[in-house]
Amino acid sequence: EGAPGIDLGKLLAKTGLVTLDTGFVNTASCSSEITYIDGDAGILRYRGYPIEQLAEKSTFVEVSYLLIHGELPTKAQLDDFTTKISRHTLLHEDLKRFFDGFPRDAHPMPVLSSAVSALSTFYQDSLNPFDDQQVEMSTIRLLAKLPTIAAYAYKKSAGQPFLYPDNSLGLVENFLRMTFGFPAEPYDVDPTLTKALDLLFILHADHEQNCSTSTVRMVGSSEANLFASISAGINALFGPLHGGANQAVLEMLESIKADGGDVDKFVERVKNKEAGVRLMGFGHRVYKNYDPRAAIIKKTADEVLKKLGGDDQLLEIAKKLEERALADDYFISRKLYPNVDFYTGLIYRAMGFPTRMFTVLFALGRLPGWIAHWREMMKDPATKIGRPRQIYVGPTERDFVELDKR
Ligand code: ACO
Repeated sequence: EGAPGIDLGKLLAKTGLVTLDTGFVNTASCSSEITYIDGDAGILRYRGYPIEQLAEKSTFVEVSYLLIHGELPTKAQLDDFTTKISRHTLLHEDLKRFFDGFPRDAHPMPVLSSAVSALSTFYQDSLNPFDDQQVEMSTIRLLAKLPTIAAYAYKKSAGQPFLYPDNSLGLVENFLRMTFGFPAEPYDVDPTLTKALDLLFILHADHEQNCSTSTVRMVGSSEANLFASISAGINALFGPLHGGANQAVLEMLESIKADGGDVDKFVERVKNKEAGVRLMGFGHRVYKNYDPRAAIIKKTADEVLKKLGGDDQLLEIAKKLEERALADDYFISRKLYPNVDFYTGLIYRAMGFPTRMFTVLFALGRLPGWIAHWREMMKDPATKIGRPRQIYVGPTERDFVELDKR
């Protein structure tokens, strides 16, 4: 171990030794320079910069550049990056027609992943994972077009007409206008809304080897193109234990409210492990302390909800739940603290997004992280196609039984 020139992975493979690590709790799949997490201390840094500083001083586009390119941009680099993104926000008219084919009540997440997957068919000139210029082009296309796709997914479900992007606006403003505006009607984007959504996107921008990012890497490890890999990541994010948790939190708060607002009763159901009842927005695979993103969101939730006029009763229930859980031995002994999703749903709701859009907003925020990881992996000479082993526990050899004898 540690001897120079010895590849431990190769050595283990040669000895035939296989480790069983369900959910990859203790298995690192790669080395990475992008994001540092200390789950016990509640620390999160992107490329070395503390999340608290980025939340206070940076913007989502700048953080995207930082994650993808490794350094904070100069003014000229940031201007160039921003301009390039603003020039690629339009969707091909044929891609726009895809939205007609989905049922009106379709969840926007599969609509999003389908449209992103389809980008491989429209932009065949940027599919080579080893051509730097093509990778940069598909990066810009994704960053620019995902907000348009997301807004169209929303418009489709609302039965409202699509708006073309207005490229004089910033990325977040443009997204808000395409989502909530109407053609031929002026729409002034509320700066409080823009600032809050920009902040939430920064906080979601990367979180190292979570389920969706690992999926992006796994798919990319077969040398699948960036669009295909990101589409797979969006599908992984759809699950309620990952990106779907913010939707699940709001549904949980609403069901507690509908049941008379009795927080104690709900916590007892969680502790009794009633089937399917978890305190959503609590617990994390890595954080065994307060999620630093949740701390920032909690600080801003009050302010944002006051300005935007959120549902006070739901916020009250959320705060009571948190207080109750943090004082309860069930949660203390398991080191279960609020995660990033506990308060985000309330803010999204106050902004006017329907619950089904919450996970889409998560995807918009996480996109630069997915791209950064995919690009890092493609450049890493140690990358191998992802191919975990298994412990076979099925039947031993047995003879085939003819159909009439079964
Ligand atoms: N409510 C109640 N009990 C919980 C919760 C919860 N939210 N989370 C974990 N536990 C309990 C488990 O039942 C288990 O108890 P046990 O020791 O008696 O069996 C123990 O805590 C350990 O839980 P695991 O499921 O083994 O923890 P794991 O690391 O696998 O799961 C996860 C992490 C999936 C996030 C989990 O905490 C959870 O389901 N949370 C709710 C969903 C959620 O908020 N997800 C968002 C995560 S953050 C993100 O994706 C952005």
